[in-house]
Amino acid sequence: MADARPFHWEYHPPAVPREIFRVEGGHPLRGSVGVSGAKNAALKMLAAAVLTGERCRLTNVPEIEDVRVMAETLRDLGVVVDHPSANVYEVSAGDVDWLFVPLEAAAKMRASFMLLGPLLARFGEVIISNPGGDRIGRRPVDLHVDAMRALGAEIDYRYGYYYAKAPGRLRGTEVTFPVVSVMGTENAMLAATLAEGHTTIRPAAQEPEVDDLIAFLQKMGAAVERTAPDTIEVEGRKRLRGAEHHIVPDRIEAGTFAVAAAVTGGHVTLHGAPCDHLGTFVEVLDRAGVAISCTDDTIEVDASGSGGSSRPGEFRPLDIETGPYPGLATDLQPPTCVLLTQAAGRSAVHESIFEDRLEWLSELRRMGADVEVIDAHHALIDGPARLRGAELDIPDLRAGASLLLAALAAEGVSRIHGGHHVRRGYENIEAKFLDLGARIERLQEEDPTVPS
Ligand code: EPU
Repeated sequence: MADARPFHWEYHPPAVPREIFRVEGGHPLRGSVGVSGAKNAALKMLAAAVLTGERCRLTNVPEIEDVRVMAETLRDLGVVVDHPSANVYEVSAGDVDWLFVPLEAAAKMRASFMLLGPLLARFGEVIISNPGGDRIGRRPVDLHVDAMRALGAEIDYRYGYYYAKAPGRLRGTEVTFPVVSVMGTENAMLAATLAEGHTTIRPAAQEPEVDDLIAFLQKMGAAVERTAPDTIEVEGRKRLRGAEHHIVPDRIEAGTFAVAAAVTGGHVTLHGAPCDHLGTFVEVLDRAGVAISCTDDTIEVDASGSGGSSRPGEFRPLDIETGPYPGLATDLQPPTCVLLTQAAGRSAVHESIFEDRLEWLSELRRMGADVEVIDAHHALIDGPARLRGAELDIPDLRAGASLLLAALAAEGVSRIHGGHHVRRGYENIEAKFLDLGARIERLQEEDPTVPS
């Protein structure tokens, strides 16, 4: 089996219109902003909808590029995907005439691989490209493939594609992961809902988006349940039905705006905010001395100095380590690093999930941050730093949003190239920042022919 073979060797992604964010920093953010639906729940639910031929309706779907790519990918398979109004998607997978997920979809978005489990379970076969996605280190899919094989699938890897078959139905089994994987858990769970018999998934990812997916599957008639914090059990059903579901708010977006308020010395209230899902992150902000308070669905961050709240430059340094939920989300590591540039003293950052997710810190250094990257997983940040506007390049989605935060906090003007990466995962980010008083505009890059 040649599973490790590279797959992008002769693929050149099509040119996309590149965008630049122009940010004039130094203006405290003030006001309130609504949190959009969670990207990492919406994408999986769109994939899960192909488990049934009946219509599924999803609300609170974020209007982002990744969702658009997933909808297009489904349409290319012959699935009817309607978008009747903003934030609402309806999916009818009665006819699926093309069980092939091409490299074009996979190279744009790793989450396209979420179609493996549901297509295999419902139709018994699929050919699916090895995914690309963000450039944040080696991102293998071996755990997904091993889980499908454990469920009885036969999978070959040729020329960058997985050829997967399930003779008869998939069979329930014990799926055991060597490490916790969010999409691995979800793919195994989706496949198991239509398998014959009982499946136990352990250790199962505990991210809130996984539980939201479980809630949607239960509405579809799936017998799936989290029976222990790290265990999901599924009793396979012959068929599932259509369902309607309102997607949970995006905790990563909420965390990003919380840091934006803090580093600009602002005062922001987030509405529809997933307080319960941000536990560790709220603790991190609290330990750093950021005045943050949560009610049921509101998060308030005050770094304006009023009432004795700490201001940027006065925050406390921290040692942080990312981890699977309920640990500190790796997707919130980049914003947290921006926060730590405004702490008085030395902070240590341990990125335990992905390789190369600290590389973007070189861009932060160009803005005047005192950052030392020790190795692929460790960095030191000395603060407080006086950030200055700069000409910057966005390497991926989360680092890109974090460079925006740094630019909002910096003195002077920044021009951040590669803004289209941010649109993959944040709904109307510049409109939301503008509402909070930021000076930000999105421009088209002069030469739009540069590949992404
Ligand atoms: N891993 C493997 N083999 C696999 C799968 C994962 O070795 O087959 C490793 C990864 O390399 C990593 C670890 O397992 O070291 C955990 O990765 P995980 O599988 O949990 O990540 P993922 O499911 O691919 C999702 C999110 C990411 C988020 C991570 C971690 C989606 C679409 N993506 O990725 O979100 O960072 O979980 O929480 O749900 C983002 O939204 O910007 C983003 C990258």
